[in-house]
Amino acid sequence: CGIVGYVGSQSALEVVLAGLRRLEYRGYDSAGVAVLADGGIAAAKKSGKLVNLEKALVDQPLPAGAAGIGHTRWATHGGPTDANAHPHLDNAGRVAVVHNGIIENFAELRAELAARGHVLGSETDTEVVAHLLAEECSGGADLAAAMRLVCRRLNGAFTLVAVHADAPDVVVGARRDSPLVVGVGEGEAFLASDVAAFIAHTRSAIELGQDQVVEVRRDGGAGGAGGVGVVVTDFDGRPADVRHFRVDWDAAAAEKGGHASFMHKEIAEQPRAVADTLLGRIGADGELLLDELRIPAAELREVDKVVVVACGTAFHAGLIAKYAIEHWTRIPCEVEPASEFRHRDPILDARTLVVAVSQSGETMDTLMALRHAREQGSRVLAICNTNGSTIPRESDAVLYTHAGPEVAVASTKAFLTQLVACYLVALYLGQVRGTKWGDEIQGVVRDLAGIAGAVERVLADMEPVRALARSLAGAGTVLFLGRHVGYPVALEGALKLKELAYMHAEGFAAGELKHGPIALVEEGLPVVVVVPSPRGRSVLHDKIVSNIQEIRARGARTIVIAEEGDETVLPCADHVVWVPVTPTLLQPLVTTVPLQVFACELAVARGNEVDQPRNLAKSVTVE
Ligand code: G6P
Repeated sequence: CGIVGYVGSQSALEVVLAGLRRLEYRGYDSAGVAVLADGGIAAAKKSGKLVNLEKALVDQPLPAGAAGIGHTRWATHGGPTDANAHPHLDNAGRVAVVHNGIIENFAELRAELAARGHVLGSETDTEVVAHLLAEECSGGADLAAAMRLVCRRLNGAFTLVAVHADAPDVVVGARRDSPLVVGVGEGEAFLASDVAAFIAHTRSAIELGQDQVVEVRRDGGAGGAGGVGVVVTDFDGRPADVRHFRVDWDAAAAEKGGHASFMHKEIAEQPRAVADTLLGRIGADGELLLDELRIPAAELREVDKVVVVACGTAFHAGLIAKYAIEHWTRIPCEVEPASEFRHRDPILDARTLVVAVSQSGETMDTLMALRHAREQGSRVLAICNTNGSTIPRESDAVLYTHAGPEVAVASTKAFLTQLVACYLVALYLGQVRGTKWGDEIQGVVRDLAGIAGAVERVLADMEPVRALARSLAGAGTVLFLGRHVGYPVALEGALKLKELAYMHAEGFAAGELKHGPIALVEEGLPVVVVVPSPRGRSVLHDKIVSNIQEIRARGARTIVIAEEGDETVLPCADHVVWVPVTPTLLQPLVTTVPLQVFACELAVARGNEVDQPRNLAKSVTVE
């Protein structure tokens, strides 16, 4: 879910709505706002996307307000109805609250409130918080104190932001295992799930820690910044240390800038994102400059196992990282979906390096996996795109990807930069450990330095891929095959198609085909095959060409992604997409791109909204 709170001299309603537009990628099945005006709270909420709420506000306008809160929801407890949308108010309508996360003991709290005469009108876990806050406030506590008391009674994960009609210049927030950042402007302040909500207004931000409550108050409060005071405490009211940071994303980066969708824009931005992620990390002599990791070389030499944990597309980046890490460093590497990892009692110790890959830095499954790893004494290195987010803050070290804000729910440019970061980590481990692949590593570093240009060349020639995608808009199933690093690429191609086109799509290791999936092949079935380079590992290449022949003989329509000049694929390919010559391990950086374009175009052809696919959310902050 996306949360915004505002207090300041602008129209709170407008600022909150604009913030919600920026956060809509975090959830979009209902939305709502509440503003403090005329001594009371005026609220509106609507199921469906934010635009439904905006339309409702045209018919029934709300006052501008000097403080307000808003929410865009990804449903957990209770379906996406008007009643379940946030904000939730107490019975007297004096307190309004928005929430992200899950309150695990809500049933108990609800029963308790009902016994005391409260009437709860929704099926959500959130509503209990509005009632509990109202009770504490009527008992004499101010809103921040009430929030602390209530938070101590909640189990589970939550970000809460609340307002009270009696405190028209105050917004209070709290967080546990769920994101919340503070933006501090001139005479105004923002509370939001992430900085995208306020970068149009201020770059000055404060990171909140675990189990903290923040009060932003206009005209007063401690540590006032231009007429706005920000006070952060723990749940017991003790003052907390906070970290200030500057947001280096510019506001324009989070706009579509003439593209039909954020996804189009983000696919197009990949050469820049890749180049930015490499910037300053490769020295003139080809040496990797990763002192920013702040893990001493001596410790990296001790590492005897690497475990990559991640979800979704980031997990696919991890699968590719395994090939690079094991080949270049000879350190065993495991990769596991973060949601599975900690529940199987994995073998971890101080010599295990756990790499947590996450665009948002907030994915709950990944966060829980890294906490588990740290509890076992392992070092955790985060690969993350979002400054100020929880995963890097809780890790021992972080390597930021510099993709810029990724807004489309299906990840594209973040994935490419995650790959680059994984390669950097693998090469750096190789460098500090002085493996026998020294010369090869030097060569790869040179190739990596030029890879943004290769991605650009792929993008320059995507019209045939788009035309092909449009021609397949009526297909029921698409299969994807690959070997070696092409296998995770096939998985990613299939995931993109599921996410965006809502089609049945599956990725397989091409060698596994004959052990089952080949039974799916029938006349006209589109099968995308990622073919490795014919140079170097020619055995791999020749085997996959045989696989293409096997499926073509059974009627498949073969769509082949192959290296420029590889004419051996021509006799068995119905369509060929050429990609530049690239070292095998780096190939995913070029072979993934046509699959992203393919899925995006196919989804558009099927009339789907590519930036906000149904049922998904970009940042999944529940387990
Ligand atoms: C969600 C998104 C995916 C993303 C995954 C991991 O499921 O829909 O696109 O790959 O989360 O997100 P992260 O922010 O941790 O990379």
